[in-house]
Amino acid sequence: MKTNSSAKLIQFIDIPKVYDEGILVFSEALRHIPFEIKRFYLIHNVIEHAVRGKHAHKKTRQVLFCVQGSITIILDDGRSREAVKLNKSHRGILLDTMIWHEMVSFQKNTVLLVVASEYFEESDYVRSYKDFIQLKGQTSVENNEK
Ligand code: TYD
Repeated sequence: MKTNSSAKLIQFIDIPKVYDEGILVFSEALRHIPFEIKRFYLIHNVIEHAVRGKHAHKKTRQVLFCVQGSITIILDDGRSREAVKLNKSHRGILLDTMIWHEMVSFQKNTVLLVVASEYFEESDYVRSYKDFIQLKGQTSVENNEK
């Protein structure tokens, strides 16, 4: 897998952790999470060898926390691809707009918590990698023309 850490494909979001007869972690919109939160969802009871994600979002930004278990997230910006393992409830990753992502290697009993900047809308998804690369190409051209 090609890696390019200078591109900052992986952006960790570390949130506070309080030890008090157990562990409490918390996060606040616009303080720890870099957007207003409009939605959250959980992914759990994932079957063995499942590969989830396989899409990018045009407008939605998300932060993923693995609150139990372990998972590997593959991130791809159209130029490079990196894999990151999440297994700590206080360490999330930012999934910015137009980042192709795949979730693999779900350990049994893994629970993933995702907070999102937008309400669910299917039209926000880019579900074909070919379309993703094409859209990224267009974005690069637009940026270069500015
Ligand atoms: P999807 O985002 O494709 O899941 P994953 O990336 O984990 O494979 O969503 C799976 C299904 O759930 C799809 O039919 C859309 C639906 N869904 C909602 O209705 N609301 C939501 O907030 C999300 C995240 C998914």
